[in-house]
Amino acid sequence: MKDLQFKRHRRLRNSSALRSMVRETHLHVEDFVYPVFVVEGENKKNAVASMPGVYQFSLDRIHEEIQEVVDLGIQSVMVFGVPDEKDAVGTGAYHDHGITQEAIRVIKEKFPELLIIADTCLCEYTDHGHCGVVENGKILNDPSLDLLARTAVSQVKAGADIIAPSNMMDGFVAAIREGLDNAGYEDIPIMSYAVKYSSAYYGPFRDAANSTPQFGDRKTYQMDPANRLEALREAESDVEEGADFLIVKPALSYLDIMRDVKNNFNLPVVAYNVSGEYSMIKAAAERGWINEEQIVLETLTGMKRAGADIIITYHAKDAARWLTR
Ligand code: PBG
Ligand code: ZN
Repeated sequence: MKDLQFKRHRRLRNSSALRSMVRETHLHVEDFVYPVFVVEGENKKNAVASMPGVYQFSLDRIHEEIQEVVDLGIQSVMVFGVPDEKDAVGTGAYHDHGITQEAIRVIKEKFPELLIIADTCLCEYTDHGHCGVVENGKILNDPSLDLLARTAVSQVKAGADIIAPSNMMDGFVAAIREGLDNAGYEDIPIMSYAVKYSSAYYGPFRDAANSTPQFGDRKTYQMDPANRLEALREAESDVEEGADFLIVKPALSYLDIMRDVKNNFNLPVVAYNVSGEYSMIKAAAERGWINEEQIVLETLTGMKRAGADIIITYHAKDAARWLTR
């Protein structure tokens, strides 16, 4: 035994204090962005069936949710408006009194310090449910850009602090940057959904946002889950077009991509821990099959370890509670 040569890695694991001293990755409540859903009408708090713990609030009640978020020390929310009326060109998305704009206004007025990130897309507002303009069954790229830029400007006018375009049309960052700059909003950052895969993990969100495509799928604009080099091309063009943050979405099945993006670009990387990832954990936890607190913190730690600086997550409120206990 005496002559045996080997390393004693366990030396650094011997106590809780020692383990925390050598810990490489830390979760902070400042890392989290909490997504909120706002619907039209009054006195509404609708449970989203496929996302336990997530609700759609009407404008007169959204402050209940935001107050809780703020009290937990979370600094940022992402706002998704769910309109009653839709049309072919998503008019509600860029209307100054659209549901998202009104929600941003209401939240900003009551909570001026909270960072409001606006998801900038058309799919919640189009009757066909696609993220761009449709003609003869095709999703048109360039005609969608102008509408996106208008949407972004109207969201900033309402009080949004950051614009997060998610529609995956080519050139969307350039178009939005130009639109914002021309409107005098040079200081508003763009958090681009630079690397967004076509994913079944968005299923529960589409219930929450009522944004399921009415024909076909999103595969002609969102990325093929099998591709890695393409993610670098997508991120590269968004950086050139002026993105300030790069989102990788979904998170769990794409941690390798998150690391690639972190290593190749010198911008903050954002993980979007999407609805299906949340619902899987919630469902298993409800059945008592897993320990929710431990699984969630392990999952979020994995995302940060993979390179995420920021995490958009429906677990934010729970995680904040667990971290500050
Ligand atoms: C809108 C949008 C989607 C998500 C965020 N913004 C859905 C989609 O692209 O179909 C997904 C979020 C989630 O699943 O939590 N384009
Ligand atoms: Zn969309």
